[in-house]
Amino acid sequence: MRKITVNASRQYEIIISRDIIKNAGEFVAGVHKKCKAMIISDSNVFPLYCSTVKKSLEENGFESFTFCFEAGEERKNISTLNDIWNALAQNQFTRSDLIVALGGGVCGDISGFAAASYLRGIEFVQIPTSLLAMTDSSVGGKTAIDLEYGKNLVGAFWQPSLVLCDPNVLDTLSKHYYSDGMAEVIKYGMINRPMLLESLEGDFDIEDIIEICAQDKREIVEADEHDNAARKLLNFGHTFGHSIEKLSDFTITHGFAVAMGMKIITKACENMNLCEKGAYEKLCTILAKFALDNNTTYSAGAIADAAMLDKKTSGERISLVIPTKTGCCELFDTTKSELLKFTQAGLE
Ligand SMILES: NC(=O)c1ccc[n+]([C@@H]2O[C@H](COP(=O)([O-])OP(=O)(O)OC[C@H]3O[C@@H](n4cnc5c(N)ncnc54)[C@H](O)[C@@H]3O)[C@@H](O)[C@H]2O)c1
Ligand SMILES: [Zn+2]
Repeated sequence: MRKITVNASRQYEIIISRDIIKNAGEFVAGVHKKCKAMIISDSNVFPLYCSTVKKSLEENGFESFTFCFEAGEERKNISTLNDIWNALAQNQFTRSDLIVALGGGVCGDISGFAAASYLRGIEFVQIPTSLLAMTDSSVGGKTAIDLEYGKNLVGAFWQPSLVLCDPNVLDTLSKHYYSDGMAEVIKYGMINRPMLLESLEGDFDIEDIIEICAQDKREIVEADEHDNAARKLLNFGHTFGHSIEKLSDFTITHGFAVAMGMKIITKACENMNLCEKGAYEKLCTILAKFALDNNTTYSAGAIADAAMLDKKTSGERISLVIPTKTGCCELFDTTKSELLKFTQAGLE
C-alpha cells in the first residue's frame, strides 16, 4: 500500500492499493465518523463497482445511498448537479454527512462541486476509477461543472477528505480512455520528470506511475493551491489542446487533444530555438507507444483563434507553458497576438 499525504487547506491522504475498493468503508471510517454516505457514480462505473463500495461502507457502519447519472462530459452540468442536490436534500443529508465520488474526472468534478456547495459545504471522498482521475483530477480540490459557453466555468476549490486509488479497476477502462489518461501522465514527464518518460518507454508498473503523478500533483497543489503560479505548469499542452477539443465540438477527447497540443507547442519551441532539439521526436515516440499519434487537421489560424477566444485567458497577455528540453517546462509570458506564430511554427 502506498500513501501520500497532501498538506493543502485540508490535510488528506491519497492511498494507492490493488483491491482497495473492497475495503473502502474501512478507510472512510478512518477519516470520518459514521454517517450517511451518498455514492455518486456514472452509468458505466455504477454497475461495475457501486455494490462493492456500498457493501464495504455498510459493513463499516455507514448508511449508504446511491446516485447514478448518465456517463459523459455533457452531463457535467447544472441539471445533473441540481438532481444531486435534490437527492441529498430528499434523503435529509446534513453537514456532517458525506459524498463518495466513484468514477472518472467527470464524476469527481461534479460530486466535488456538489459537496462544496450543498449546505455551504460537506465532506467528500474521491474513489477515482479512470487513469486520468487517479493521476490528476482526484487530487487538488478543483471541482466544477460546464456551461454551454465552456468547460469548468463554474466551480470551487474544495479538497477531498481522502482519495482511494485501486489500480485493478483500470482493467475495465476502455483502451481509448486508458490512452486519454496516459496523455496527462506523459505531460507530467514533460513538465519536470524525465525519468518518468524513461519508465514509460520500457515495461512499467502502473501503480508506480500513479504514485509518481500523484506525488507531483501533490507538490504542485501544496505550492499553489489556488492556481496562481506553479500550478499553471500543469497546463502544458492545454492552451492548444483546449482549442482542438473545442474545434472538434468535444468529439476529440481531452487527453488526445492535449497530446496534439503538446506536439504543437514542442515543435514550435524547437523551431523557434526555445527548446533543445530532439524533444519533439522523443515526445512523438512516447505518445505513439500509447496510441496518441494522431495529428490535428485544424489550421494554425483556427487553433490560435480558438485559444485567443478562450474565456479563461484574460487581458492581452497569456502565460504559455513551453518545454525547454525533454522533461523540463517553464512559463513564458507572451501576447495573445503571438499565439499564431506558435501554432504556425508548431504545424510546419
Ligand atoms: N479537477 C481537476 O483538477 C481536473 C483535472 C483534469 C481533468 N478534469 C476533468 O476530468 C474530466 C475527464 O475525466 P475522465 O477522462 O476520467 O472522464 P470520465 O469521467 O468521463 O471517464 C471517461 C470514461 O470512462 C468511463 N470509466 C471511468 N472509469 C472506468 C472504469 N474503471 N471502468 C470502465 N469505465 C470507466 C466513464 O464512464 C467514461 O465513459 C473532464 O471533465 C475534465 O474537465 C478535472
Ligand atoms: Zn488536462
